[in-house]
Amino acid sequence: MAVGSLAPEPEFSAYTEMGKGSHDPYADEPRRMAAQTLVMKRSASREMLGEALACAAKCTDVASLDAYRLDYASYRLGAMRGAKGEQPCPQSDKAAFIQREYELTEALKRKTEELHAAHRQVEELTRSTRDLDAVRASFATSDAALDRVQLDARHRLRTGLAERRAKRVERVQEATAAVANKSKGPIECSKYSFTTGAPVTTEILVARGVVQNPEQAAFEIIPMASASSPLFVFTDETVDGLYGDRFVAGFEELGFVVHRIVIPDGEDAKTLEVYAELADRVLTVGIDKLSILISLGGGAVANVCGFIASTLHRGIGLIHFPTTLLAQCDAAISHKQAVNAPHGKNLVGSYYAPLRIVVDPDVLQTLDDWLLPDGMGEIVKHALCQDATLLKMLDDYDGSLRDPAFLERVVRRTIELKCQVIDIDPKEKREAVVLVYGHTLGHPIEAISHRPGSLCCLSHGQAVAIGCVIAARVAVKMGLADHGVVQRTVDLCAKYELPTVVPADQSVTQIMAKLPYNKTWTQEGTVMALLEDIGRLFNVDQNYLLPVEEAVIREAVAETMAPPGTIIRGAGSSGFLRRSKVSASDILEAADRPTPGAGWDRNSAVPHAC
Ligand SMILES: NC(=O)c1ccc[n+]([C@@H]2O[C@H](COP(=O)([O-])OP(=O)(O)OC[C@H]3O[C@@H](n4cnc5c(N)ncnc54)[C@H](O)[C@@H]3O)[C@@H](O)[C@H]2O)c1
Ligand SMILES: [Zn+2]
Repeated sequence: MAVGSLAPEPEFSAYTEMGKGSHDPYADEPRRMAAQTLVMKRSASREMLGEALACAAKCTDVASLDAYRLDYASYRLGAMRGAKGEQPCPQSDKAAFIQREYELTEALKRKTEELHAAHRQVEELTRSTRDLDAVRASFATSDAALDRVQLDARHRLRTGLAERRAKRVERVQEATAAVANKSKGPIECSKYSFTTGAPVTTEILVARGVVQNPEQAAFEIIPMASASSPLFVFTDETVDGLYGDRFVAGFEELGFVVHRIVIPDGEDAKTLEVYAELADRVLTVGIDKLSILISLGGGAVANVCGFIASTLHRGIGLIHFPTTLLAQCDAAISHKQAVNAPHGKNLVGSYYAPLRIVVDPDVLQTLDDWLLPDGMGEIVKHALCQDATLLKMLDDYDGSLRDPAFLERVVRRTIELKCQVIDIDPKEKREAVVLVYGHTLGHPIEAISHRPGSLCCLSHGQAVAIGCVIAARVAVKMGLADHGVVQRTVDLCAKYELPTVVPADQSVTQIMAKLPYNKTWTQEGTVMALLEDIGRLFNVDQNYLLPVEEAVIREAVAETMAPPGTIIRGAGSSGFLRRSKVSASDILEAADRPTPGAGWDRNSAVPHAC
């Protein structure tokens, strides 16, 4: 083989950058060598760990791989020092070094490919043998566990669901027949097909302190294959001011080439214009197939960065570091990436799985006060419909909302709960409808609260809390749950500083008029996720989205309206909407005005698709 044509392995070229820029090659020797050794040890041990698992399952020879890796790591260390002239090294040894390095690299590559193949096979096997049906069954209460009233409700709903299905089928058949009648022409075709899309696994790693010190992580953050590719850190102005320098410096210390992109805070960055500008900027700086985009920020940064990652080169690596409570429990723990369009929120987007999501609860300490209850809205939602134990823990807790141990605990549990449902129902058609619990009414109420002239601009978490209260009332009215669920919901929301009534300047009619813009609206009417008891959703034959009569929703909303004059401290959303929040004196003044409040622009209603 031609030694002269040897190119450095892309996976390892980042290491050779270490120490550049120093005039005296020995000056930083101990620190640099320690860093190099650490990086190599980590890369060797991390990769070995993951791959050995797969390897063991396939009875591949792990011991020989260990030998290869250790040999390679220690060899590489010596070779680098020799090649840089940092230690005396005769010319003849250098050639031998390079030759040996080439051989080891080739062997390592071969072994790694073999192991990756084994890994893929094990993943495939694990997936196909996992008992998804058992997990699904554990979500669905059987007839035997329901009382008489609930059983009657289940029978009624079953009939209702069947009728809706029949209507839908009829509608579709009519439309299909109409099209088919018109579209039978003489042109014949030959048919071919291909299948795409393999299951993708996203790792979620919870680790305190990692944002301030990514170089100290004992686990892999950036896959080693991307070590020599440019990384891009997307962050917003506030988060950059708090964590940007340390975060970027940490990755640079590890030898990565990092470009930082600072975007406006909040919704201001989730626009098509910002998307186009940033995509162009990244391409101008230059990426390759193994480049990784990293988001460091709240849900807004995660969404913009995620959408860019999903489109550049038709998809490059994405890693989230969520920094708000909402993002750590909800917005970033997702494969949904989107920006807003003039017609509404999150309307231009994609399903694109991040490689990893690294959650550091320590960064929650710097959040503004309003952002903690805001995140609690989604946590309360999960507790209400998925986990009575979490709910009890939230009920019993009497410490501060800022307590780091408390935050870490609820973040970990909520992530587990969200993973559980996405895992068994990635398309969010069955069990994962827990994610939209409280949103059917929460969305319209949030959207109306953001219209110009609104007297209370609600944050998403606040609106979801109000939506949960209304949903609890609907469940009771339909005989699905005992009245106690309403009080538990109200008490829990109030405890975590979340509103439990609809702002007085909204009206039932306005809210009802916005229902058709929801994802949970169909031509056959609205469907909702509803409680059967605290910690559990009502199901009919494992369907969790249940048809609800408009009159029942209307009644439940009416019962949840705040009495005129009630003041709700709206936390607003970030960016433009937050800044356009009305002042406390506006609210007091408005208490005397008839509802809906003056200055409403009916045409400003936008559809919502979170
Ligand atoms: N993809 C999904 O499935 C999904 C789910 C829910 C929400 N979302 C989206 O998430 C967005 C809302 O996310 P968000 O609530 O995180 O808001 P955000 O991203 O707008 O952040 C809110 C504010 O907090 C600041 N901030 C962030 N981290 C901080 C920290 N550690 N310390 C101090 N300040 C900090 C930000 O600079 C910003 O000003 C919305 O756009 C929503 O559509 C997406
Ligand atoms: Zn939500």
